[in-house]
Amino acid sequence: MVARDEQLAMLVQPDRVHRSVYADPVIFELEMERIFGRAWLILGHESQVAAAGDYFTTRMGREPVIVVRHEDGSVRVLVNRCAHRGATVCAEGRGRAERFVCPYHGWSYDRGGRLGAVPFESGYQRGKLSELGLKQVPRVALYRGFIFASLSSSGPGLEEFLGPARASFDDLVDRAPGGELEVTGGVFKHAYNGNWKFMLENHLDGAHPAWVHASSVAVARGAPEPGAPGKEHHFDIAVRQMRQNGAPDAVWDAIGVWTTPRGHGYLGDYHSDDRLVAGMGSPVFDEYRKKLVERCGQKEADRILRVTLWNTIIYPNCSFMSQFRQLRIIHPLAVDRSVVYTYSFRMKQAPPGMFRDTVAFANVVNGTASWVLTDDLEVYERLQRGLSSGAVDWVYIGRGHGGDVDEADGTRRGNTGTSEVFIRSQMRAWLDYMGADA
Ligand code: FES
Ligand SMILES: [Fe+2]
Repeated sequence: MVARDEQLAMLVQPDRVHRSVYADPVIFELEMERIFGRAWLILGHESQVAAAGDYFTTRMGREPVIVVRHEDGSVRVLVNRCAHRGATVCAEGRGRAERFVCPYHGWSYDRGGRLGAVPFESGYQRGKLSELGLKQVPRVALYRGFIFASLSSSGPGLEEFLGPARASFDDLVDRAPGGELEVTGGVFKHAYNGNWKFMLENHLDGAHPAWVHASSVAVARGAPEPGAPGKEHHFDIAVRQMRQNGAPDAVWDAIGVWTTPRGHGYLGDYHSDDRLVAGMGSPVFDEYRKKLVERCGQKEADRILRVTLWNTIIYPNCSFMSQFRQLRIIHPLAVDRSVVYTYSFRMKQAPPGMFRDTVAFANVVNGTASWVLTDDLEVYERLQRGLSSGAVDWVYIGRGHGGDVDEADGTRRGNTGTSEVFIRSQMRAWLDYMGADA
């Protein structure tokens, strides 16, 4: 084991990573145990389990889990695996249930996972059944309404884990007048034939849009001028985003990219609302701003809208955009297969047009039929093909290496907006988790 841990340490070097980190099934199994088995993983939002008995099913690495609201008000996370012979007890994506009944022999469990009725009960040894139930995930915690859980009973608390990245969740929630968000429109899922890390490495990568998204930038440039008075279209917001993707290199280099010691990261100073909606005289945005001022006062509303955090990565399983109220959770299935769940949030007290923008953005930028996401997926699959070749060992992650700046708040900033500092930071976190005694 010592030899193996030393070998692991060799795979991640200051400006390069060994290809096996993305392509070796043995390493993938170890990641499920040591990263997904240890870290806090985001599972969803409390609006998905608003009332007692509301539940949804998801995954924590290898483990299928049920997230359920208990009658005592707490959120419980149960491993979706019958204590009898191992079937998953819940097959639905979401619903409301008094109890979970296994389809195989009818054992039933309450919302806390406690075993209740067992058919043919007299056949079991006395006292034996009282030891059995659905396993509870040991740590569950919420931050600003977002549900996290950890399969490990020890480790840092949730707030310490999130560190400076809490500001991105604050931004997402603060933007809702009255602070109320809800997941609306279900969960959108797509899979790709590539490693889970590709998505996390892509979402802060300012050097890729000009290439990967060149065709969508061209389409957006040819589209009618967004927001032309009397000709507003619900795709305007997405057209602006795609045009922004085609910004000159100097703009990309001038934005900010920050990382945290646990591998989280975020872009800032890229989009402001002025570039997207506010300054364009969008009537919906004006109405929204009024509502925000009404709820929290002019000064606070100005402060909230001045925050220009953009894509945020919470390592190892989440990416979100507060300005568009989109959140994605990545679930690794195999070393070369991943599935992504996408959630759209509605600000409960905002004008309906704001959610329309969220949905338009989801369709055009984050959906599988979009002009943007599909190109990223093509690249992830090409990465997997390239890295499955054994002829070349190393992946180079050296852009900006040597120029990283340590900031007073504990974050590390890239010397330019297109620095690969965020991949170096994710890899540092990867090594920390993968250590035998992390
Ligand atoms: S496997 Fe669940 S009741 Fe038998
Ligand atoms: Fe992209």
